[in-house]
Amino acid sequence: RTPFCYRQDQLFAESVSLADIAAEFGTPCYVYSRAAITSAYQAFDHAFGNHDHLICYAVKANSNLAILNLLAGLGSGFDIVSGGELERVLKAGGDPQKTVFSGVGKTCEEIQSALAANIFCFNVESEMELIVLNEIAGRMGKIAPVSLRINPDVDANTHPYISTGLKENKFGIPATEAERIYALAKQLPHIQPKGLDCHIGSQLTEIAPFIEAARKMLDLLARLKTQGLAIDHLDLGGGLGIRYQQESPPTITEYVKALSATVGDTPLRLLIEPGRALVGQAGLLLTQVQYLKHTPARNFAIVDAAMNDLLRPALYHAYHEILPVANRPGTSASYQVVGPVCETGDFLGQDRHLTLEQNDLLAIMSAGAYGMSMSSNYNTRPRVAEVMVDGHTAHLIRAREPIEYLYALENLLP
Ligand code: LLP
Repeated sequence: RTPFCYRQDQLFAESVSLADIAAEFGTPCYVYSRAAITSAYQAFDHAFGNHDHLICYAVKANSNLAILNLLAGLGSGFDIVSGGELERVLKAGGDPQKTVFSGVGKTCEEIQSALAANIFCFNVESEMELIVLNEIAGRMGKIAPVSLRINPDVDANTHPYISTGLKENKFGIPATEAERIYALAKQLPHIQPKGLDCHIGSQLTEIAPFIEAARKMLDLLARLKTQGLAIDHLDLGGGLGIRYQQESPPTITEYVKALSATVGDTPLRLLIEPGRALVGQAGLLLTQVQYLKHTPARNFAIVDAAMNDLLRPALYHAYHEILPVANRPGTSASYQVVGPVCETGDFLGQDRHLTLEQNDLLAIMSAGAYGMSMSSNYNTRPRVAEVMVDGHTAHLIRAREPIEYLYALENLLP
């Protein structure tokens, strides 16, 4: 079920036409659906049933304050990877007691702010980080709640850039080291080991690697118990994929039910850190055709959005469906849908069959996750506006960046 449907020949976001959004807010802009985010969150939440759980939205997927605030209101927790994301969560009214902090390179300042905010748990990714965390907590007179992020060495079968649970990846602590480092954690006076964590990758379209990782975590947990460690939560990370093209990932419900069945009645609170599955299908990038260029080799549709706005096609060769905002009659041609940035990698779609005229609007679908959050100002292009549709109303949740903001921190030499 998508929040973006045609009515007659016009593409709508919930009950607002995308043509109206373009007229009001300009292009390019990201358009999100409140209903879609809400229903994805509720699908996760309901699927857990009575199983004690905490859903920690991976803020990196889309960190707009309105989205964080919406999710906080639904009861969501958060998975952060920087001090900046912590500030966003707090600013948006997120609960620090539902916040976990992941990442291999937490700085001292970031650790301090997270301790000061009393977050729920640090997902620690190395022995050295554990020692630093203990020192800082000691100086602040605090006890740091800790999970070790274990690298379960499971193949997630996804794009190599977003696969994180193989032993050659930089993430997590090798499973073979887990018992030793937990024993150390137990001894450190300002560390309280309380959880176990893993995250094997992103855009997974099969359930098996999740289950394999969960089983490995449960085996490890059993071994840690004999060591006298009281672990009360298991964080299985994020990674559930969405359908961009022909993939058929498990549904949210199938995924959650499989995880909670694997954990069974082991008395554990289950944490997950979904990003893409919560917001990916809830957003699109609205763009306008500037020029059509027909060369002997190819047809180009040059649009006003570019790789700086949506990096995924350029970076991972990711596929995003491209739909016309108004279906028009006529014969289609095969287009390279490209942006104005001076790089050959600046494409949003290749070989797309579209019937186009100058100034037509296009919707680049499934762009709610890792779209705006990975955008840049390359080519001194201001970041685009973000709009959240709620029923019949469209709200501007981030204004288009004024150009002056882009050089506001720069100084000429004296
Ligand atoms: N937890 C941790 C520790 C993570 O590193 C990530 C994502 C998540 C949770 C959320 O994963 P998700 O549920 O969204 O798959 N830029 C890439 C995706 C990078 C994901 C990085 N880590 C893309 O555009 O496909």
